[in-house]
Amino acid sequence: MKNKNLKILFITSEASPFVKTGGLGDVSSALPQSLMELGNEVRLVLPKYGAVDERKFKIHEIVRLKDIPIHLGNEIELVSMRSCFLVGNKTKVQIYFFDNQKYFGSRKGLYQDVNTKKDYPDNHERFILYAKGIMELIKKLGWTPDIIHCNDWQTGLIPAYLKTVYGDLEILKDTKVVFTIHNVEFPGVFPKEVFKLTGLPESVLNEITVNDGSKISFLKAGVVYADAVTTVSEKYAEELCTIDELGGIIKNTLKKRKNDFYGIINGVDYSVWNPENDKYIPAKFSIKDLSGKTENKKSLLEYLKLPVELDVPVIGTITRFAEQKGIDLIEGAIEDLLNLDLKYVLLGQGDKKYQQFFEKIQKKYPEKFAFYYGFNEELAHLIEAGADMYLMPSKYEPCGLTQLYALKYGTIPIVRYTGGLADTIIRVNGNDANGTGFVFKKYEVEDMMKEIKRALKLYQDKEFWIKLMKKAMSLDFSWYNSAKKYVELYKKLLKDVK
Ligand code: ADP
Ligand code: GLC
Repeated sequence: MKNKNLKILFITSEASPFVKTGGLGDVSSALPQSLMELGNEVRLVLPKYGAVDERKFKIHEIVRLKDIPIHLGNEIELVSMRSCFLVGNKTKVQIYFFDNQKYFGSRKGLYQDVNTKKDYPDNHERFILYAKGIMELIKKLGWTPDIIHCNDWQTGLIPAYLKTVYGDLEILKDTKVVFTIHNVEFPGVFPKEVFKLTGLPESVLNEITVNDGSKISFLKAGVVYADAVTTVSEKYAEELCTIDELGGIIKNTLKKRKNDFYGIINGVDYSVWNPENDKYIPAKFSIKDLSGKTENKKSLLEYLKLPVELDVPVIGTITRFAEQKGIDLIEGAIEDLLNLDLKYVLLGQGDKKYQQFFEKIQKKYPEKFAFYYGFNEELAHLIEAGADMYLMPSKYEPCGLTQLYALKYGTIPIVRYTGGLADTIIRVNGNDANGTGFVFKKYEVEDMMKEIKRALKLYQDKEFWIKLMKKAMSLDFSWYNSAKKYVELYKKLLKDVK
């Protein structure tokens, strides 16, 4: 197996540019492309939600993969695969869209109703159908993967199917399955009663129950049945096994699997997130010529209708409004923050209570604070490019991508020491510029404010700051190294296979 290039089926629930709610979408697009650049053959599966633009992406039917009947409890659902290519700079990844009108095609939201912002009540049915349907589709594909790479709870049942119901399938006898945890916050927990819809044997039920046996977790299924489990930074891997609050319901299961559990840091797709060629930003710039950075700062302030005062530092944040992201800290600090000589721009969506709070603050500080509620890809790029600093005070963070993007745009991260943030940002000490950002430890407003003030003070030393920006921009977090680690892992799993 050692020198053979691999066939990898990458299964996910979102991928940029088709559909994305967060970092999983970025990873699911970039990692398959990097694996292909390393010489492997990768195909990607994702649901065809109503939000996927069929015309724009030229998605077409595959006649032989049409209307396949899948049992879901007593019902039969028809599923089909449609297809297109994700064309990158050097690669072309074949995409299979999992198509079923009732559960995916008729809905704009991925996991939640876009109007109510509540999880769809039948998410269990949707992702049981997805997992089961993919198993049937693999049978008909005529292309046998060496590796099936699953991501997060939405795909967690696939390893369980592979090891039980489909365990005797001749074509898959040499196939290994990897399961990546992007976030334990979403464990895919449902009442035990839904288990009967899966058609999995009773032995699986015992393995995947949680909460004193009254519920089951699809994430746990992935952890129990995959040949190897990974997560998206080394620090988060360690935290999951040692901190109750983070490991949650799978902490003990992960500990049991510690010999098969790996932390592999995410990378950045520099064909998308790079100030030299970013299609969303008005002025391109590079280490050699930073002048465009100021133009982007001006555009950012104009876009958000803030007064254009270019000497005043701008701090930016792009986030989901979730407890994980440290929104409570931002909320607690915001008035102190806005009383400093700076501007703060916040792009986010999620929990309504935060929306209302930040809207009020915006009314109170219209010259210093801009808040954009919603999902806005263009503005996300403009913030990365136009801000001077990037604030990410996460309570926990499996990896985090936006701080890595910020580095590339010379936008200096201010982060809390947790998970992937701890693994990727080195604290600036004094003004020796050995560090790459500002890092605080305690999940407290005071600690965060102290570090922000330290950054603001050093920002006044222009010579130092430019050195720091150039250092940040020169760092290489491309996918190359991490994709190689995945390939090493795949090959290790396959080493006994002839
Ligand atoms: P997470 O996956 O936990 O949300 P990451 O830092 O890994 O965090 O990735 C977040 C991704 O989602 C980035 O590409 C970021 O730009 C994007 N993003 C998050 N919120 C928004 C938003 N409101 N509008 C546009 N992009 C967003
Ligand atoms: C999750 C995590 C984030 C990570 C992303 C991609 O959404 O919250 O930290 O970067 O997945 O792995």
